[in-house]
Parts: sequence; structure tokens; C-alpha cells
Amino acid sequence: MAKVLIVYATRTGETQNIADLVAEGVRFSGHEAEVVNIKKVKNEAALDGYDGYVFGSATYHGEMLQGMKTFSVSGRKSRSGRKGRGFIRCVWVERRS
Ligand SMILES: Cc1cc2nc3c(=O)[nH]c(=O)nc-3n(C[C@H](O)[C@H](O)[C@H](O)COP(=O)(O)O)c2cc1C
Repeated sequence: MAKVLIVYATRTGETQNIADLVAEGVRFSGHEAEVVNIKKVKNEAALDGYDGYVFGSATYHGEMLQGMKTFSVSGRKSRSGRKGRGFIRCVWVERRS
């Protein structure tokens, strides 16, 4: 059984909901999942002990939130070799004729 860490960045909570759904999917597949706000990930050591990672951020003005942006750049080298996936929370509007 793998242990997966799902890290999210949110302003109003929607991305946390998605992170929770991702965790549900991981658990449904028979694995362990932990969901954590990027604000609680203080350094690379917080990533130790997991077999895989999912990072997700809300998008504002075409950018992911600052906490996730900073994290994605800092420590990139030391993260090489870790297994990770990402998602971006987007919205779109469709007009039906
Ligand atoms: C001021 C503002 C700017 C936004 N910019 C974008 C954007 O550039 N791209 C996008 O897909 N969604 C954009 N959104 C929509 C948010 O990403 C969306 O509401 C998202 O669910 C918010 O996630 P959160 O609740 O995790 O913060 C914007 C929303 C606001 C209020």
C-alpha cells in the first residue's frame, strides 16, 4: 500500500474540496492519502515518508497561488526523483445558444 501526500493551495476552499476528492480516489484504490494545506508545508522534510505526491493550486489572474509557486521553485533540485502529479483549479464559462 502506497502513502500519498496531497498538498493544496486555496483562497476560498474550493481547491481543498478537490484535494479531498483526489484523496478519496487514492483511498478507493486501496492506498493511504493525507491532505495538507501548503501553508503547513514548511520545508522539504515535510515531504519525507510518502511514496507519491499531488500538488494542486487555485488559479488567480492566470497564476497559481504564491505559496505553491514559491514551493514549486524552492527545493526543486532536492525533489528530483520523487513521484508527483499536479492539478490546477480552473473555471470557465460557456454560453449556450
Ligand atoms: C479575482 C479572481 C481571479 C481569478 N482568476 C482566474 C484565472 O485566471 N483562471 C481561472 O481559471 N480561474 C480564475 N479565477 C477563479 C478561481 O480560480 C476559482 O474561483 C477557484 O475555484 C478558486 O479556488 P479556491 O477556492 O481554492 O481559492 C479567479 C477568481 C477570482 C475571484
